Amino acid sequence: MKNPKPKIRNQKSLIYLDNAATSFPKPESVYRGIDYVLRRIGGNPGRSGHRMALDASRVIFETRESIAELFNIKDSSRIVFTKNVTEAINLAFKGLLRKGDNVVITNIEHNAVVKPLMRLEKTGVSVTKVSAKKDGGINPKDVEKAIAKNTKIVSVVHASNVFGTILPVEEIGRICKKKNVIFMIDAAQTAGAIPIDVDAMNIDILCATGHKGLFGPQGTGFLYVREGIEPLPLIDGGIGEDGKMIEIPDRLEAGTMNTPGIGGLGKGIEFILKEGIDRIKKHEEKLVRQLLEGLKGLKGVSILGTMDAQKRACLVSFNIDGKDSSQVGYMFDNEFGIMTRCGTHCASEAHKTAGTYPDGSIRVSPGYFTTQNEIEEFLRAMNKLAS
Ligand code: ALA
Repeated sequence: MKNPKPKIRNQKSLIYLDNAATSFPKPESVYRGIDYVLRRIGGNPGRSGHRMALDASRVIFETRESIAELFNIKDSSRIVFTKNVTEAINLAFKGLLRKGDNVVITNIEHNAVVKPLMRLEKTGVSVTKVSAKKDGGINPKDVEKAIAKNTKIVSVVHASNVFGTILPVEEIGRICKKKNVIFMIDAAQTAGAIPIDVDAMNIDILCATGHKGLFGPQGTGFLYVREGIEPLPLIDGGIGEDGKMIEIPDRLEAGTMNTPGIGGLGKGIEFILKEGIDRIKKHEEKLVRQLLEGLKGLKGVSILGTMDAQKRACLVSFNIDGKDSSQVGYMFDNEFGIMTRCGTHCASEAHKTAGTYPDGSIRVSPGYFTTQNEIEEFLRAMNKLAS
C-alpha cells in the first residue's frame, strides 16, 4: 500500500486520527481526478449537448457505475447523488413518510436521522426507538417486536459514530423483508470500509457519504433506492418540462451537479475496488485492535462500544476519569500534534444512551493510510495524558 500522506500545513509530524469526521489523506488519484474534471472536462452534465457536456455526463455515469459495483446494486440509475449523507437521509424520510406512518429506529442514531424525524413527528409521523445493548449492539428480535402495522421504514445506523459497534444488518434486513417494510441503513461510517451488499442484506435504501470511507471530497454523498420506492424530491427544479414527472435519478438531482466532486469520488471508489474492501477492513481492524489493547489497560479509561475489533467500524470513543473530553482533544492537538474529535459528535442521542451526555467523549478514528507506528505514538501520548 502506497501511503500518499502529504504534509499538513507544512508541519512534519501531525497525526490525523479523525477519519470518522472526514478521511485524510485521499488516494493520489482522487486529487488528480478532481483536477482533471475541473481543467479538462469542463462542461455541465445533462444540460448542453456538446462534447464537453457529454464528457461531464460520462464522469457522473462512471461514478454511478462504480458505486453500483461496490454495493452490488443492479441498476445504477437508482443511485441519486446528494451533497452528503445527511441530505440522503432527509430525502428518504421526507420524500416517503406521510401522516400516520411509523418509522422504527435505534436509540444510538446520529442527528441526521433524529432531527428530520423530530420535524416529521410534528406532521403526524410516529417514531419507535429500539434500545441498544450496553456495547452499542442491537438485538434483531427487538427490531422485529417494534415493527407495527403502520411501520413503513426500519432505519438503522450500520455502525454508530460514537460506539463504533457494527449492527447485524443482515438479520434486520431479513426481518424487514419478511414483514414487508422498507429497510434503510445509514452507512456514514461503514461505506467503503465494511462490505455492504444491498441484495444479500435486503437493503432497500442505502444512505452514504462520499468523503469518509469512500475517499471522495467533502460535498459528495448518495442515496440508493430500490426500484418501486419513489421518494418525492426535497428540492425542485432541474431538467424536464413544467408539470411532467421525470424519472429517478434526475427527479431527485435538481440543479447543476458537483461534477468535480463526483469525479473525485469515482476515483476514490475505483481505489477501493482495486485494493479490495477486505484488505481495507483487515488493515483497519488491526489498528482498532491495537488501540483497544493499548487503551484497555490504562487506569481511569472507559471505552464505549464492543471490545471485539472485528465487530467495529474504524473508531474508538473513550473517556478519562475526571478529565473533560474537549480539554483532552485540545491537548492532543496542541501538545502532541494528534487530531481527534471530542464532544458529542453530532449524536447527542447516542451519548445519552451511553450515559456520556452532555460532555461526550474523545474519539480516535484511524483510516486506511494510518500506520501502526502512528497508533503507537498516540498510545504514548495517551499514557502521558492519563497519568
Ligand atoms: N458525523 C461526523 C462525525 O462523526 C461528522 O464526526
